[in-house]
Amino acid sequence: MRLFRLGLARLSFLLIAFFVASSYQTCTSDDDCSLNGVCGKTGVCKCDPAWTGDKCSALDIRPAKRPSGYNLTAEGTSSWCSKIVKDPWEKNLYHLFASEFTHGCGLDYWAPYSRIIRAESHTGPAGPYTFAAEVMGTFAHNPNVVYSPADREWLLYYIGCPTNVTTDSCQSQSFTCGPGNDNNGESGISVLGSKDLRNWDFKGQVMQGDNTGDWDADVTNPAPFPLYASSCSRTGAYANGQHCAGHTDAMLLVYRGCPYNCGGAEQINVAISETGFEGPYTKIETDPIFDEGNEDPFVWRDKRGNFHMLLHSLEADGGFGSGPKVGRHAWAKNYTGPWTFGNETLAFSTEVEYDDGTTINFYRRERPELYFSDDGLMTPLLLTTGVQPQNSPQSYSIIVPLGDAGAKAQGK
Ligand SMILES: *[C@@H]1O[C@H](CO)[C@@H](O)[C@H](O)[C@H]1NC(C)=O
Ligand SMILES: *[C@@H]1O[C@H](CO)[C@@H](O)[C@H](O)[C@H]1NC(C)=O
Ligand SMILES: *[C@@H]1O[C@H](CO)[C@@H](O)[C@H](O)[C@H]1NC(C)=O
Ligand SMILES: *[C@@H]1O[C@H](CO)[C@@H](O)[C@H](O)[C@H]1NC(C)=O
Repeated sequence: MRLFRLGLARLSFLLIAFFVASSYQTCTSDDDCSLNGVCGKTGVCKCDPAWTGDKCSALDIRPAKRPSGYNLTAEGTSSWCSKIVKDPWEKNLYHLFASEFTHGCGLDYWAPYSRIIRAESHTGPAGPYTFAAEVMGTFAHNPNVVYSPADREWLLYYIGCPTNVTTDSCQSQSFTCGPGNDNNGESGISVLGSKDLRNWDFKGQVMQGDNTGDWDADVTNPAPFPLYASSCSRTGAYANGQHCAGHTDAMLLVYRGCPYNCGGAEQINVAISETGFEGPYTKIETDPIFDEGNEDPFVWRDKRGNFHMLLHSLEADGGFGSGPKVGRHAWAKNYTGPWTFGNETLAFSTEVEYDDGTTINFYRRERPELYFSDDGLMTPLLLTTGVQPQNSPQSYSIIVPLGDAGAKAQGK
């Protein structure tokens, strides 16, 4: 009798456990975990560090510290978007490549007042960063830096071209940097190269727009990723910039397309150059890779070889100032697609929490770029974005930590 009761109790326990487990089941494959984790035996996603949520589709953002990032608004200088690079030679030195506006101009005058600068931090990758040097004068904008093992140098992708239309008072002026846009010089993607992160050579304009009626006549917002063998990244050699086996010159280039002069829809496409960063780049699709409106892509390949993007979303309640839906994630098993756009969970919003207990709800938050661990596991540690506060013409670059490892990297 006693044994029988125990059996019943055990059976009902198992039944309850089964129903509880199945009601919590959220995945049947790793795709259901946004490829940011694996679908476990119980049907629950086990997220990689830096990701959270049922589907591992939200960045695990921890409170940021003040001061951090690159914020020169106190002295009247605005910046927009930035990329962190660890110095391989000097311990505790980090570089930040950012767009910064001359003449004290605010975000509205990004063209033609933007130049690309290098800032430095000796207090960890989250900063705060101070100005070190100009990398490229006006008009140069939207820097995205990657180390290319095939070329054994850093490559800085950006938009712009030298222009003489800046005046002392902030004024928008029509100018062009190539086909696709005659209004503000945003169309056309160029590359600088450097062996030491300090001296940069102009390598050429590697992707041009055109003056047709195509959805992507205007090409901008470059996001490169060298496809050098993933075994390189697993050993850490990729991050350290050393040569390693598994050579390929292939370079991935994700970009935002827009109709001529960008009066309309902004969407995303992927291009590849098999022959090195110089191009020519072949688009993987003639159509955008997904229907949703987005700009500012950032692309990377994870430790399992899957591809990911962070995006500035232009959906309702997102986009330019309405918020909070500004950050989205997309993923694919191969860069050739199909790409899935994560429309269920926000990757990040306009709200930023600080460790002094304050929260800022920014007016605009765009241009996501990640800083990864250098152990070869490509763990996202820090997220940089451009932000514009409410009721301010100014803008700056913030850095927030991701997951436990990011909080640790951020320091005290
Ligand atoms: C950026 O600097 C401005 C001006 O000093 C300051 O008001 C603002 O709080 C700073 N932002 C952050 C996140 O600390
Ligand atoms: C600016 O540069 C253009 C093209 O080189 C030239 O035609 C024009 O005269 C220049 N304008 C000024 C004000 O220097
Ligand atoms: C990804 O696509 C490329 C181009 O079609 C192909 O060469 C490669 O083998 C694919 N990779 C995987 C892991 O399927
Ligand atoms: C997400 O997109 C899918 C496929 O287009 C659609 O079926 C679904 O309703 C969307 N979900 C949300 C929350 O918009």
